[in-house]
Amino acid sequence: MKVLLVTEKPFAAQAVKEIQKIIEEAGHVFEKIEKYTDKSQLLAAIADVDAIIIRSDIIDQEVIDAAPNLKVIVRAGAGYDNVDLEAATNRDVCVMNTPGQNANAVAELVFAMLLYVQRNHFDGSTGHELKNNRLGLYAFGNVAKMVAKIARGFGMPVYAFSPILTHDDLRKEGQYGVISVYSAEELFDNSDIVSLHMPLLEDTYRCVNYNLLSRMGDNGIVVNSARKEVVNEEDMIRIMEERPDFKYITDIKPDKHDEFASKFGMRYFSTPKKSGAQTYEANVNAGLAAARQIVAFFKNGDDRFRVNPK
Ligand code: 3PG
Repeated sequence: MKVLLVTEKPFAAQAVKEIQKIIEEAGHVFEKIEKYTDKSQLLAAIADVDAIIIRSDIIDQEVIDAAPNLKVIVRAGAGYDNVDLEAATNRDVCVMNTPGQNANAVAELVFAMLLYVQRNHFDGSTGHELKNNRLGLYAFGNVAKMVAKIARGFGMPVYAFSPILTHDDLRKEGQYGVISVYSAEELFDNSDIVSLHMPLLEDTYRCVNYNLLSRMGDNGIVVNSARKEVVNEEDMIRIMEERPDFKYITDIKPDKHDEFASKFGMRYFSTPKKSGAQTYEANVNAGLAAARQIVAFFKNGDDRFRVNPK
């Protein structure tokens, strides 16, 4: 089988070497296309492959149509909103992700961004500490769990709301020491800082809206390491215009980045390129997991991390 690694944002070179080794030792052919700048390069490279490993690379109907032999797509990471699942299912292509493999890297970045902004971008002026700030986690997957653990070290009380876990299930996650709340509204009511951890779904599209944002008290901060689309950008701009104390921190550049940057100065921060999972460790964890999942899929049909219906 031919396995193609497709990464516009490449993995660390050592991770790529190890991915190649796993694929080749299993008797498959390995190819890669990194830092491509045009979709046509991807369409050409994918023409005769059986499997692909991707990151946030867009795999739409056109890409799937261009790969008649394609049998499996592994998203080396958590979110798979970049893959057209329906197109894949219609062609009987299995789509998997590698849940949890890059979670620690993303969780650490949440605190890196918070510290950077609360210390005024290290400009020497007097900033703020994280200690005693109430942290609200919107959704409670692998990244949020890591964030909860780290937050305890900072001395932050942690609240959590999960749109999919019941209140009782969340309470059972006692090891993370979170205070479970019943609704997104209650979460924003009780948080000084809200950290977003939901996947991008129809239900979560622009779900962080004016109604929720306006519930936060003085000096509210929203930190987004999820997806730009979960925030209603017009509403975020409105609250930041009305409330000169409000801050928005994001690892995913908003569509209205220029407006945020010009209007809100240091109350707004966006990483120049999504950096959450961009550590050596996360590259190795997610990349090698993806390679092993492809080998197991071809060996015995193992599709335990499948995310699309059969
Ligand atoms: C994920 O969904 O796993 C993260 O957003 C990381 O995405 P990336 O692999 O494009 O950095």
